[in-house]
Parts: sequence; C-alpha cells; structure tokens
Amino acid sequence: MSVPQPPEPIPGARLLFSLDPAVSHLNHGSFGAVPIGVQRAQQRLRDEMESNPLRFFTQGLVDRIAHTRRHLATFLGADPDGSALVGNTTTAVAVVLQSVGLQPGDEVLSTDHGYGAVSLSIQRECRRTGAVSRVLPIPLDATDEQIVQAIRAGLRPGRTRLLVVDQLTSATARLFPTAAVVAVAHENGVPVLVDAAHAPGMLSTTVSSIGADFWAGNLHKWGYAPRGTALLAVAPQWRDRIEPLVVSWEQDAGFPARVEWQATLDYTSWLAAPAGLFTLRSLGVDRVRAHNAALAAYGQRVVGDALGVPPAQLPDPGGPGVALRLLPLPAGMATTIDAARALQTRIGERLATEVAVMSWNGRGWLRLTGQVYNTADEYERLAVRLPALLAQR
Ligand SMILES: Cc1ncc(COP(=O)(O)O)c(C=O)c1O
Repeated sequence: MSVPQPPEPIPGARLLFSLDPAVSHLNHGSFGAVPIGVQRAQQRLRDEMESNPLRFFTQGLVDRIAHTRRHLATFLGADPDGSALVGNTTTAVAVVLQSVGLQPGDEVLSTDHGYGAVSLSIQRECRRTGAVSRVLPIPLDATDEQIVQAIRAGLRPGRTRLLVVDQLTSATARLFPTAAVVAVAHENGVPVLVDAAHAPGMLSTTVSSIGADFWAGNLHKWGYAPRGTALLAVAPQWRDRIEPLVVSWEQDAGFPARVEWQATLDYTSWLAAPAGLFTLRSLGVDRVRAHNAALAAYGQRVVGDALGVPPAQLPDPGGPGVALRLLPLPAGMATTIDAARALQTRIGERLATEVAVMSWNGRGWLRLTGQVYNTADEYERLAVRLPALLAQR
C-alpha cells in the first residue's frame, strides 16, 4: 500500500526555534522546544526581575500570576478561577494525590498506559497512607468502548478512592475516551484525575468538556511555553481540600493562590507562557494541529514500511489531532527501560535523530512526533538508515 502524502510544510517555522539544524528533532513529546520569541519574552521578564528583585516579587507578582493563569485556563477551556499554575504535571499529580485524603484500604486505580513517574508517585502516596495501587491492563488495540468497559469492570465502588487516567498516553500514544471514562467513574462514585500532560496546544478538547475532578496538563510541550509551566484544574467541590506541596505565604488565600505561590522561585516561565500561545495563534492553531498530526502519521507509515511493519499493525492513536505516533520495534529489542534508553541514545548519536524509544509491556516501541519545525525528509532519512542500525544490535 502506498504511503499517504505528507502535509504542506509551514514555511519558515523552523527558524522560530533554536534547534540544532544538524539534528532531526522527532521527539517534541518529551521536553518540547521553546520558540525563540518565547525565550526572549522570558529573558525580558528575567531582566525586569534582576533590575529590582524586591519590587518584582513584592509588587504585583501574585496578581500577574493570576492574570496569566486566567489567560492560559481560558485558552484550555478550564475554569480560570478553579485552576492553578504549577511547575509541571508531575507536581500537579502529587498535589492531587496528597489532597484526596487516602486512607488505609483505599485503592488508587490506574492503567498500564500510565506515565512511569506518575505511577511512582501513586505508589509512594499509597505506601504513605496505607492505600493500595492497582493497575488495570488495557490492550493496545482496545477500542474506546472496550477501554470504557474495562475501566467500568475495574472500579470497586466504595473502595476505589481515585481513578488516574491519561488523556493521551505517553508510552503508547493512545487517546483515551476521557469524558466517557469520567462519566462511568462518576456513575460509580469514583473521582478522576486526568493526566493530560500532552493535551495543551495539541488537542482541541476543552478541559471542562471532560468533566474530571482533577485535570493536569503541561503548556511546556505543545503549547510552546517555557519549561516549568503546567495547569491543574480542579472541580469546585475539591478546591477547598487542595493543599500545596509546600506551604508558603499565600496559604490562607485558599485555592488557587496557595498552590501557585511556592516561595522564592523563578516565576518567569509562567509569565512568558502567553507568548507561547501567541506563537501558536500566529501560526494558526488549527493549521498547526492538522500539520503536526498528519506529519506524525506520515512518519509512522514511512518508518513502518522501512521496518516491514504492515500498516494494519501500526498502532492507531484512537482519534484525530494526535501528533505522537508509535511503531513496534523488532521483537526482543528495547524490552526494558534501560535497553530502550540505550537504543534512543544510539539513534541520537549515530543517526543525528532524536526519537523516543519506549519499553511497554515487555516490548520495544519507537515514538515519533510531528511539529511545525519538521519536514517529511527527516522521517524519510530515518526510514533509510534505521533498519541497518537496528540490524547491528
Ligand atoms: C502522560 C504524561 N504524564 C506526565 C508527564 C510528566 O510531565 P512533566 O515532566 O512535565 O511533569 C509526562 C511527560 O512526558 C507525560 O507524558
């Protein structure tokens, strides 16, 4: 079967970034890439901070943070007064886990598509409280209906105190039917935390349409914000119970200020984050989303062909707009996290191409992304050179 046409490139987009032109950056998913204009916006804020630190921190910073949060939350379709800026999704998850009041015998349910560090956080909070972590296996080729059914069957009403589910999974690049999952959990009286680390900027689904108790997403991946910018949205009934990880001067101000103010930190990444959304809007939000998803799909097909993977065996992301795509690696390769990391480094060094290599359920996977700075020839070059590198073992 022939490979579909790649999307039209977005002219000049690569020049908006500081990326090394000698390297193909096909892994926007892990740490994003900050446009030069956004880096400059942050630097201007840092210059302002350094010109008079006392004035910067004590005169209006809390209000500037609130203003920024409202701007970002509105873009994401979240309640501007029911959301808090935090450093990253990992922090947001920890805030939620320690705020839901887990008791001995309670259970936190998650799926085997969950992010590794989030699983570690769940495990630690369970050890600390006497709760139990249970991980539900969901097959990679499960349909949306099957995912919802599996989660419905996995809930233990009265015992499951929290369900943690991804909006778009990291290791498997699968869009979960989050709104339907939330609905089924709520029918069973179970609150839901949605890990939406990859959603902001990439997906058009609004936070409020998902209806989760807690939703956490990074703006520093697909929203072009400086690193250290994430939003935690909390449903009204939980807001009074949310406790920050670190108590500081805004503690008595309640949610969200008590979560946002974490003492003396560099808050310029948050204040510069609207410049990331400005970049996205200038390029055209819908155009960027369509381009990135189509390019990732193209890359998956071209590299899949080169590795001899039939199109029917290429994992489907389960919905539109997904700019992360997965490919199975030959059997026996990257079956552990260490082996996956070693292979990822080898591909980076030998092929000057940054990709994500994942180990999921004992099998190795390659994860490719599409971004405005990528072009079709980068995936084509990888397709030509990767088979020989993998054959070397
Ligand atoms: C699904 C998922 N959850 C959580 C995270 C953690 O994000 P951060 O490192 O910004 O906290 C990631 C990062 O890639 C992710 O993909």
